[in-house]
Amino acid sequence: MYGFTKLAAAALAALPLASALPLLTPLAAFHTLAISSGLAPGQGQAPKCNITQANLAADLPANLISLLPPSDATLSQVTIGFGTQNYTCTNGKFVNVGALAQVFDISCVQELPAISASISAVINEIQGLNGGIALEEMLAKMAQWAGFKLADHYFDTSSGSLAPVFNFQVSGGDFVIGKKVLDIADPFNPVVNVDWLQLSALAGDAAKFLVREQTAGGQAPATCTVENETLQVPYAAKYWFFA
Ligand SMILES: *[C@@H]1O[C@H](CO)[C@@H](O)[C@H](O)[C@H]1NC(C)=O
Ligand SMILES: *[C@@H]1O[C@H](CO)[C@@H](O)[C@H](O)[C@H]1NC(C)=O
Ligand SMILES: *[C@@H]1O[C@H](CO)[C@@H](O)[C@H](O)[C@H]1NC(C)=O
Repeated sequence: MYGFTKLAAAALAALPLASALPLLTPLAAFHTLAISSGLAPGQGQAPKCNITQANLAADLPANLISLLPPSDATLSQVTIGFGTQNYTCTNGKFVNVGALAQVFDISCVQELPAISASISAVINEIQGLNGGIALEEMLAKMAQWAGFKLADHYFDTSSGSLAPVFNFQVSGGDFVIGKKVLDIADPFNPVVNVDWLQLSALAGDAAKFLVREQTAGGQAPATCTVENETLQVPYAAKYWFFA
């Protein structure tokens, strides 16, 4: 129950639902709801709030600044992704076989510390609770109803290897298939939280670069005993998309 209460609190902070809006009105950015950001076709709907001041560097510990994309890349979306990292037990170790997640606009609340700090604590906590994934799905549904869903994240294997896809079709955009540029262990709790990444676009127009950081959950146990056993581990992360 403790976990659920905290989850609900973080969800309100993370997902700007109609009922949560009064809590957020002090945010200076909030009056610029539904701005037209001049996004190129392909990048999905414009951020709901002005992201001119949003700053990925401010989210990164000083020694992880290398995750920033090239300086001529333009920030197009600030998001949070919720879902699962999938594993299969192979020769005694859980091997990552992809992920499935939903990606939501957090432009209106991206600067709240809760988005980075509490989300991580909460997601890590619910991993131990029965029904944790169902709760995440419920939150995802709520955000979808509120129109904040931007993209689906999944893996494509048609090329023979696992390729991460971000598909913005649900918000009127295109897709991007990412290629890993940089992979850095989570600086806070790498046993629990998946790595922080910079990806560049291998194909698709939805973004040129994207960065995954402030990760929460998603790591599998170090070892496994039942060959071919599958495991889905809930995770959340901030994903920053750059054009
Ligand atoms: C977004 O904010 C910046 C400054 O923070 C401002 O210059 C710009 O006009 C704003 N854009 C919109 C569409 O409101
Ligand atoms: C990952 O697991 C989800 C269930 O959480 C499943 O729907 C999805 O197809 C799986 N994807 C991969 C690439 O294994
Ligand atoms: C595990 O899966 C592989 C590939 O699908 C299969 O060849 C193998 O027989 C399976 N092993 C066990 C112990 O089920």
